[in-house]
Amino acid sequence: MTDHVRLEGRDKVTGAARYADDPRPPGAVHACPVPATVARGEVLAVHPGEADPRVLAVLTHLDAPRLADAGDPTLAVLQSARVAHRGQVVALVVAETLQAAQHAAAGVRVEYAEEPHDVTLVADHPGVYAPEEANGGHPADRVRGDFEAGYAAAELRIDATYRIGPLHNHPMEPHASTAAWQGGRLTVHDSSQGGHGVRKTLATLFGLPEDQVLVVNEHVGGGFGSKGTPRPNVVLAAMAARVVGRPVRLALPRAQLPALVGHRSPTVQRVRLGAGRDGRIEALAHEILTRTSTLKEFVEQAAVPARVMYRSAVSRTTHRVVRQDVPTPSWMRAPGEAPGMFALESAMDELASACGLDPVELRLRNEPGAEPDSGRPFSSRGLPACLREGARRFGWAGRDPRPGVRREGRLLVGTGVAASTYPVLIAPSSAEVRAEPGGGYLVRVNAADIGTGARTVLALVAAEVLAVPVERVRIEVGRTDLPYGSVAGGSSGTSSWGWAVHEAATRLRERLAGGAPLPARGLSVRADTRELVGRGTEFARHAFGAQFAEVQVDTDSGEVRRRRLLGVFAAGRILNDRTARSQLVGGMVMGASMALLEESTMDPGFGDHAERDLGSYHVAVSADVPDVQAYWVEEEDAHVSPLGSKGIGEIGIVGTAAAVANAVHHATGVRVRELPVVSRRLG
Ligand code: MOS
Repeated sequence: MTDHVRLEGRDKVTGAARYADDPRPPGAVHACPVPATVARGEVLAVHPGEADPRVLAVLTHLDAPRLADAGDPTLAVLQSARVAHRGQVVALVVAETLQAAQHAAAGVRVEYAEEPHDVTLVADHPGVYAPEEANGGHPADRVRGDFEAGYAAAELRIDATYRIGPLHNHPMEPHASTAAWQGGRLTVHDSSQGGHGVRKTLATLFGLPEDQVLVVNEHVGGGFGSKGTPRPNVVLAAMAARVVGRPVRLALPRAQLPALVGHRSPTVQRVRLGAGRDGRIEALAHEILTRTSTLKEFVEQAAVPARVMYRSAVSRTTHRVVRQDVPTPSWMRAPGEAPGMFALESAMDELASACGLDPVELRLRNEPGAEPDSGRPFSSRGLPACLREGARRFGWAGRDPRPGVRREGRLLVGTGVAASTYPVLIAPSSAEVRAEPGGGYLVRVNAADIGTGARTVLALVAAEVLAVPVERVRIEVGRTDLPYGSVAGGSSGTSSWGWAVHEAATRLRERLAGGAPLPARGLSVRADTRELVGRGTEFARHAFGAQFAEVQVDTDSGEVRRRRLLGVFAAGRILNDRTARSQLVGGMVMGASMALLEESTMDPGFGDHAERDLGSYHVAVSADVPDVQAYWVEEEDAHVSPLGSKGIGEIGIVGTAAAVANAVHHATGVRVRELPVVSRRLG
């Protein structure tokens, strides 16, 4: 067990840590985007406001530098007159000061040929189609056996439809970039989860060799998926810097995030469970309707966890999507699992009620022998252990299953449980470990530490392999002139970068074991895991968890408050207790926020999300989460990586909302099938 503080913690709390908008290159100027005020149409003309000597340029699609195609239409900024959604960037003001840029951006008048927009998601929309794939490369549809027959023959049937509206990523640090050209070389400080991805995209867009682009992301203030791919801010900053011949700083105003950095697309999810009276599931269907933009197909893979979780003789999991005039959806913490497990785990609770079984016992009865969808054996499956350990810690035993009977004055009180899951994803990475004269070691890897504690854990991995105290290990991350690092996404960072660090450190240790004297300049070893990461993929590899919630509902106001949230996870080996707990608790807080607070509405008139800042889009604050506890069970898994870790960045958000909604049902007897669970939905 290791419990190490963040190596950069002191720098962060003293303000020494530098984020993407912190560099002050000499001569730097500011850029401010002008968002479209129509949801669909063409830009006819752009009229700058009153003359201001501080304004250096007002770029539009007519005069902005031409970009090559980098395969992401959301990055083809200022390349055409088409407006695909409200909030899309239609002009960019560059000025000497931030205030001048903001003022001039507000004064830009844009004429549009506006066209009718389509933003309302309905099941009978004529544009609904079956995509090939859902996000993550999953087949959109999987059909095993004859679901309809199995369902019709079942003794008990649950048929319920769950809804989740759009959800938005609001990392503490908004998306920001500082860009500077030195001749044909481009340097950007970018708030990104993956610098190498940004480098490749910028090189393509601007027609540069990759080694002429340097991307720095030494510190990143959260991302949750929204910084997993380059965003318009970095392209616009580089463009503007080229045009005005000076370094350019661009931090997106928070109100522009929902339109420009991706969001979790709304889902309508029908779950059908056919089961015996003993609770054994014979037929399972999870069918998703979601939407994407006209620019790009992104399909929230919400039915995918149903392919992993429970035994059933037959099953059907499908995704349908419609293209609408909305901002392009993208990754948001546990895409697929977070929304999908709200529906599936709510339906499991409904089934438990229908067959009079304890919901923990119902889940244990439906443990599969192998992954239901693929038939692959699990590398390890800790769900039963998490359910039992969670029930013990939470005090679940002896729970009265009857809903609506626990009163404390005006309050009704209830408890609920739900399962969590997240796949083990590992990407190839490289790392270098150097033994330095004087007894120190230097680890170099382009990891992105987005607040997770990645650099701390990677230093610990190297220290353990080299059998030295971590104080003797220095680490460099967050620059593309370091060895290649994969994106900080899919809960894959620690396993991916860590495997490369482990491999390089192991080889260095072997080289040093010979006892030959260290060369004067030290000894460096590099490793690349391209040949290694396929190992173990003959197994179904997933982390699991169980979350327990206690809520109170005010019978006068309908206000729902969470009293307790307790999660137990099985995620392989935990490499550093402190940062792991922080990841799991953070995920659970975000899940609780999704359950009770976060609500975004599509305004049909404007064709845009109505809640675009933290004043209107409520995320949980400390007072909303009084008691959140995360634990884990010991889990040895030899089939994931030499580290034995499974990834913990996302599983904490999975299942939380269902545990809360199930607790609300237990408290009140009201089944709320739409998030957030707010008073108007309690009847
Ligand atoms: Mo996470 S949504 O994979 O950054």
